[in-house]
Amino acid sequence: MTSKYQSVRGTRDLTFDTKALFRNVENIAFSTSQNFGFQEIETPIFEFSDVFHRSLGETSDAVSKETYTFTDRGGDSITLRPEGTAGVARAFVSEGLAQSNPNKLYYYGPMFRYERPQKGRYRQFYQFGVEVLGLEHPLADVECLDLGYQILRKLGLAESCLLEINTLGDLESRNQYRSALVQYLTPFKNQLSMDSQVRLEKNPLRILDSKDEGDRKIIADAPPADRYLTDSAKSFFTSVKEGLRSLEIPFKENPRLVRGLDYYCHTVFEFVTTELGAQGTVLGGGRYDGLIETLGGPKTPGVGWASGVDRLVDLLETKNLQLFAKTKPPVAVIALGDRAVAKAVQLGSQIRKKDIRAEVFLSGNFKKKLEKANKLGTTKAVLIFEQENGNFEFKIKDFSTGEEKIVAESAILQEI
Ligand code: HAM
Repeated sequence: MTSKYQSVRGTRDLTFDTKALFRNVENIAFSTSQNFGFQEIETPIFEFSDVFHRSLGETSDAVSKETYTFTDRGGDSITLRPEGTAGVARAFVSEGLAQSNPNKLYYYGPMFRYERPQKGRYRQFYQFGVEVLGLEHPLADVECLDLGYQILRKLGLAESCLLEINTLGDLESRNQYRSALVQYLTPFKNQLSMDSQVRLEKNPLRILDSKDEGDRKIIADAPPADRYLTDSAKSFFTSVKEGLRSLEIPFKENPRLVRGLDYYCHTVFEFVTTELGAQGTVLGGGRYDGLIETLGGPKTPGVGWASGVDRLVDLLETKNLQLFAKTKPPVAVIALGDRAVAKAVQLGSQIRKKDIRAEVFLSGNFKKKLEKANKLGTTKAVLIFEQENGNFEFKIKDFSTGEEKIVAESAILQEI
């Protein structure tokens, strides 16, 4: 039977093994982050729209084309979060977290972007992210990257992903590069895509990120950003690269990597795989030293990243990597007769109180119940029969030998 109700395009139901893999990735990400001294933070799924507009930039795709925005009953403009950094930064300011700097925070949850759905790209997707606030040292970037790398390693995915890094430099480098880029691109203005024409006025760096074929040809000969770096920006980037080498984290420099959100400066990076098709970025982030001030907070450096958990799970599934330990097979409690079934429910409850997994079968005839138990991998079952005198007879069945033996009710828990 087909129902007219489907999940909304770009959203999906996570069931069975897929959901178990999500939980596994979460657990590994949580425990690894805790080892690195990070603490969990949870911010609301929606914020005032302005929080995202100010943080991510009006011209970022995430804000200009992809937000789920609505006016609530009180007349406020509200946006479902397209990412986690803006909310964490807002919380840092409104909760006065500067007092406890440095803050090393991690978060997990659903994000919402109205993008064109395809494999690895969803409209509701899950990010695990980390943010370090209050540390301007380049080795904070390295520690963050090490955390990302260790999580991928524990998932068995480190070899499938390559770390690409770049620097956008400090404000001075960025301004100089911006002018150089505008100078280079202006003669091509009419050949650029409509999006890039708008960006040329508002945020020319983003043009480097364009997916448009025509744009990409023009960009190919654009001046590289590193030519415009100040000495201090260069030495910052050098320290990051040295730090990565000292931790033996393999990486490749990609001078075209700019990232899609406006708040970045200095280091930007992505872990990319070629095994997922077009949506190969499984983790992305960078430094954002100006963001907290943009939201009205004290000058506070920041660095962090977020990983698309859907993509990590997709990757685990394509590799057939089932990380989760299969749950132990249950003790089956199988009854014949209505009163015996009620007794089985009681017994099942008692077994579970001992932290032993038990499965009580409420439907099907006796033979069907045995078959179902067998399918679950049961090795031992308790069989309950109603007798003519109103009492019950209990048997323990060993599925490996097929043997059955009668036991007293009081001995059942011990027997299993
Ligand atoms: P982002 O690159 O926009 O960065 O997203 C991070 C990751 O989220 C991507 O690399 C990808 O794995 C996943 N992702 C993004 N969009 C989708 C989608 N539609 N479907 C599935 N997965 C997706 C940020 O969000 C920044 N807040 C990261 C950051 C944290 N920077 C500093 N701190």
